[in-house]
Amino acid sequence: MAPVSTAAVEVCDLVKTYGTRRAVDGLSLRVPPGSVLALLGPNGAGKTTTIEICEGFRRPGAGTVRVLGLDPIADAATLRPRVGVMLQGSVGGYTGARALELLRLFASYAARPHDPVELLDGVGLADVARTPVKRLSGGQQQRLSLALALVGRPELVFLDEPTAGMDPQARRRTWEFIRRLRADGVTVVLSTHFLDEAEQLADTVVVIDAGRVVAAGTPAELTRSGAEGQIRFRAAPGLRLESLVADLPEGSQASEPEPGRYLLRGEVSPQLLATLTAWCAGQGVLADHLSVERRSLEDVFLELTGRELRA
Ligand SMILES: Nc1ncnc2c1ncn2[C@@H]1O[C@H](COP(=O)(O)OP(=O)(O)OP(=O)(O)O)[C@@H](O)[C@H]1O
Ligand SMILES: [Mg+2]
Repeated sequence: MAPVSTAAVEVCDLVKTYGTRRAVDGLSLRVPPGSVLALLGPNGAGKTTTIEICEGFRRPGAGTVRVLGLDPIADAATLRPRVGVMLQGSVGGYTGARALELLRLFASYAARPHDPVELLDGVGLADVARTPVKRLSGGQQQRLSLALALVGRPELVFLDEPTAGMDPQARRRTWEFIRRLRADGVTVVLSTHFLDEAEQLADTVVVIDAGRVVAAGTPAELTRSGAEGQIRFRAAPGLRLESLVADLPEGSQASEPEPGRYLLRGEVSPQLLATLTAWCAGQGVLADHLSVERRSLEDVFLELTGRELRA
């Protein structure tokens, strides 16, 4: 029976070994058409290896990869005009060419390309259109690399750390670009170690570490699972927390890690906050320095792997 909707990218039990080292170790993921998937993981997690196998640049050791329903290596010629590729930190071997020339060259291979001048302007490189690529700054080369990936109007793009080396303004502009791609129905697979980037852009975040998927879901799902968050406040030492816990939803915990400093763990909601402040009022206690801390993807990663994401 045919699947209801074919995934734009489907990776099953992928393994890639370099010597004795397993760079990718049984990784599976599925990217629905028109969605944005972020591969999030620290240096050496296997992001680039996975992406390059999907691009047909590396051969899988074991497992299967389908891109737009096709085999990235056997069907490379069919896939080339349909897939855009932004490699990590490189514009390829074209460094002698000028920025606009190079974009025009890439456009000439496409049936229905974007206008190179408009696109160069769109990524903020109009001023350096005639500058040889090798004289562009690292962040400018990244932006050109993005334009090269998009000029042929691909239906699927792989962006390997698209905003690495960009200043905050260029990063925001790139995020806008990626949002626009999604709005146009383009499927995007990107890698990043920026949590905010994954949270901001992705429909699905796949957290990988040592070549394996350690968590996957929407940013909201990932940050919601487990203990959702915590509330800290200060008040007079020695409050009777048992009566507070009795008022709170089941599963909530309250403690006084240091005299006069309180910590409440549980599903943080407006109701929880209201219950806490009502309880304080009932006790004649004025809570001070009240802060709500929600779990971030960073917390999720730390919990799952015991390590910081930006190791
Ligand atoms: N051509 C290669 N030969 C040998 N080992 C490699 C090769 N390419 C990658 N590796 C190793 O495979 C592992 C995964 O590397 P990969 O480049 O896929 O990680 P990454 O998640 O993209 O990291 P980064 O965030 O630094 O870009 C690393 O341990 C790396 O050293
Ligand atoms: Mg990489």
